[in-house]
Parts: sequence; structure tokens; C-alpha cells
Amino acid sequence: MLDNPLRRWIQGLRGKKGQPPVLVKELGERDRRRVLRHLLALDSDDRLLRFGSMIPDEQIAAYVGKIDFSRDIVFGVVNNVFQLVGMGHLAFASAEGRKSTTKEQVAEFGVSVSKSARGQGVGTRLFQRAATHCRNSDVDTLYMQCLTSNQTMMHIARKAGMRIKREYGEADAHLELPPPSPGSVMAEALEEQFAAIDYTVKANTRAAVKFFKR
Ligand SMILES: CC(C)(COP(=O)(O)OP(=O)(O)OC[C@H]1O[C@@H](n2cnc3c(N)ncnc32)[C@H](O)[C@@H]1OP(=O)(O)O)[C@@H](O)C(=O)NCCC(=O)NCCS
Repeated sequence: MLDNPLRRWIQGLRGKKGQPPVLVKELGERDRRRVLRHLLALDSDDRLLRFGSMIPDEQIAAYVGKIDFSRDIVFGVVNNVFQLVGMGHLAFASAEGRKSTTKEQVAEFGVSVSKSARGQGVGTRLFQRAATHCRNSDVDTLYMQCLTSNQTMMHIARKAGMRIKREYGEADAHLELPPPSPGSVMAEALEEQFAAIDYTVKANTRAAVKFFKR
């Protein structure tokens, strides 16, 4: 699935059966409140799946407050009314002690999609974008922790070719990534440009609607 990111990205522009294309954009400081709103809207079951425990609002706020947008990469998908409906957090950590790689760093990924936007390929696209970003950053191992009962995420992980190790109800999945290629670099650059235009148009439309409603 990951060997030709450019072709996959172009195919993805068609969207999933009758759905609009999913454009994944890198988020920044200005999106912190949107990220918080998205995560606070997750119910307790989803919080368990996303964070490994049913964390309360205060812990979510603390987590979001600590996201370092200059160090980690946060990806997002916005809907037509400029709400953040999907978010993926890619954090880099030292690879010391990890036998799976000879590189200096590994990446860890966590993802969530709002209930209203599920089944439209948002989670898959966020995951694919994270994998492409890792490749282009010369990181060859992408980890993801999820509960083995999380069938949807296990499906996405398997589809991506992740190796899954199960322990006490938790799955530690990792994906070995090929080195960057001109296609992977081009795919990421194109997606970011398209997504940035889409994001700006939606942001301006929302601002205009707000203005005229006053
Ligand atoms: C897991 C999650 C991110 C998926 O997001 P999504 O946007 O609905 O995912 P997609 O639409 O890209 O893909 C869903 C895939 O799972 C499949 N699926 C859905 N329910 C399934 C189930 N019960 N068993 C197996 N596969 C299932 C779909 O058919 C689809 O596969 P396809 O693309 O091959 O048709 C979302 O459900 C979520 O936010 N869950 C709560 C938080 C979480 O679990 N995070 C992951 C841990 S870090």
C-alpha cells in the first residue's frame, strides 16, 4: 500500500464511493482550540480507544496544551463547515533500545475521527499521510498502540501492512517503511498544497458566514 504514495494520493482525490476527497493538512498553533474541541467531543468509549483509558476533560485539555507543534506533527481534516473532524498526532522518539530499526528515531501515531465523519476514509488517509511523512523524514518505523478489540483500527493497520504484536488485550503495531522516493516527496507536497487551499477557502467561508450573520 505504501510503495507508490503518489499514485495512491491521486486515486484518493476521487474520494471513497460517492464521498468527497479527504485532504489532510498539517495543523499548527492556530488550530490548538479546534484540536481541543475535537477531542473533547469524543465519548468515553472513543477516549478509551484513543488514549488507552477513559480520560476526563481536564486530562484532554492538559494533553492538548502540551502538544508542541514545532516538534511533533499534527495532521487534520476539516469538513465543509470548517470543523476539525479528524486528527492524527505523530510524535518522534529516540529509537534507543528498539531492535526494529537502525535509525535514530521512531515515530508513534495516534488518531481519532469524529463520529459524524467515520467510514469515509478519513482515518485511513490520516494514517497514510503520517506514514508518508515518516518516510520523507527518514524514519523507517511507525508505531501505533491500540486495543485488540479496536477492529476498525486493526483493519486499517492490517491494510497498511503493519506487523501487529498482541499483549494483554493491547496491540503494539509497527509498520516498516521504505526510504523516501521522488513519488513520496511529491505526494506529500501536493497534498499539503491542496489541503492548504481547501482549508483557507473553508476558513474564509466560515468567517464570511459569521460576519453576515451578525
Ligand atoms: C479508528 C478510527 C480512527 C477510524 O476512522 P474512520 O475515518 O472511520 O476510518 P476509515 O473510514 O478510513 O476506515 C475504516 C475501515 O474500517 C472498516 N471497519 C469499520 N468497522 C469495522 C469493524 N467493526 N471491523 C473491521 N473493519 C471495520 C471499514 O470498512 C473501513 O475499511 P475499508 O476502508 O477497507 O472499507 C475511528 O473509528 C476513531 O476515531 N475511533 C476512536 C479512536 C480510535 O480508535 N483511535 C485509534 C487508536 S490510536
